[in-house]
Amino acid sequence: MTDPILKLENVRKSYGAVDAARDINLDVAEGEFLTFLGPSGSGKTTTLMMVAGFTQPTDGKIALEGKPLDPIPVWKRDIGMVFQHYALFPHMSVAQNVAFPLEMRAVAKADRRKRVDEAMDMVGLAGFGARLPKELSGGQQQRVALARAMVFKPRLLLMDEPLGALDKKLREHMQLEIMHLHKNMGTTVLYVTHDQEEALVMSDRIAVFQNGRIEQIGSPLALYEAPETKFVADFIGETNFIAGRVETANNSTARVRGMGGQLAGALDNGTAAVLAIRPERLHLHSANTGGHDNILTGTVKELIYLGQSRKAIITLEDGTEVVALEHAAQAEITALEPGHSATLSFRSKDARILADV
Ligand SMILES: Nc1ncnc2c1ncn2[C@@H]1O[C@H](COP(=O)(O)OP(=O)(O)OP(=O)(O)O)[C@@H](O)[C@H]1O
Ligand SMILES: [Mg+2]
Repeated sequence: MTDPILKLENVRKSYGAVDAARDINLDVAEGEFLTFLGPSGSGKTTTLMMVAGFTQPTDGKIALEGKPLDPIPVWKRDIGMVFQHYALFPHMSVAQNVAFPLEMRAVAKADRRKRVDEAMDMVGLAGFGARLPKELSGGQQQRVALARAMVFKPRLLLMDEPLGALDKKLREHMQLEIMHLHKNMGTTVLYVTHDQEEALVMSDRIAVFQNGRIEQIGSPLALYEAPETKFVADFIGETNFIAGRVETANNSTARVRGMGGQLAGALDNGTAAVLAIRPERLHLHSANTGGHDNILTGTVKELIYLGQSRKAIITLEDGTEVVALEHAAQAEITALEPGHSATLSFRSKDARILADV
């Protein structure tokens, strides 16, 4: 990475006995769309608020373009913000709302007008300037909030669950709009969501938060294909876990219950581990045809037809339930009924072996 535009070093925030952020280290590249993803209470908002300047870190350093942020007051930081509950000023017109950050920065009136028009145009709301926020739909209000955050062309744009209050269809539409705006403006974006699909769709990289820490950071592909912990494998997408102990490990591969997988991190023989395998990587057969890296056997519990795919829930001999996903376009959907015995195969390179913590 070239010099990061934003750098967090050993950042910590405690509220009395609660450690909201424990030890956050993060380099954000210029122009990047980086998402904080994690369960409720994991420290996403706290971390964003420290970057924004609304919350002071208990410890650690935050620097924007190499300069420490802490001496700079919120309104002087070159940072735009959008929050979950679009807090537009209700008594001000849409145009006045969007002009507000420019006024704060003492931009001349003529220039202000031009930039407000540009920003309104950018979010597809040209001509709406004279309305009050309450005269707009939820999605339109959210777009005004976006225009207000971007009108002064900040170096950094922070968004905390900006689409949380919108219905699914509007949310998907706004996701695409935000992605297009990001692409066209080249602004660096820090985005918070607890919706993993939203994170996968929108982000260059995702930082998965748990318990005030970043558990793993990487591209959507890396997080999905190569989770480093059981938590990340479970949080992003659907995963089958088969519990056991690490057997015959070398640097990169190991076995669990006689089945092979890629080892995540250094795990000694005998360590409690799970073999993690995605449903679409488990192949279903009505009989053991042989020639597979790994085989599991069990009984069909349920078959769920999903149109473009079929989900099979299989109970293994020890009672573990696993899910296999078959794509409808594959040559032949395996002929099976609930109660039938079934064989599942998978390739060792498609399975991950993770510490069972
Ligand atoms: N002002 C505060 N005083 C005390 N505790 C706080 C304060 N703000 C946050 N916390 C605690 O810090 C932890 C992290 O909160 P934070 O708001 O960062 O979570 P989050 O990841 O944004 O969650 P959500 O997805 O629910 O928004 C939580 O346990 C929360 O209760
Ligand atoms: Mg939050």
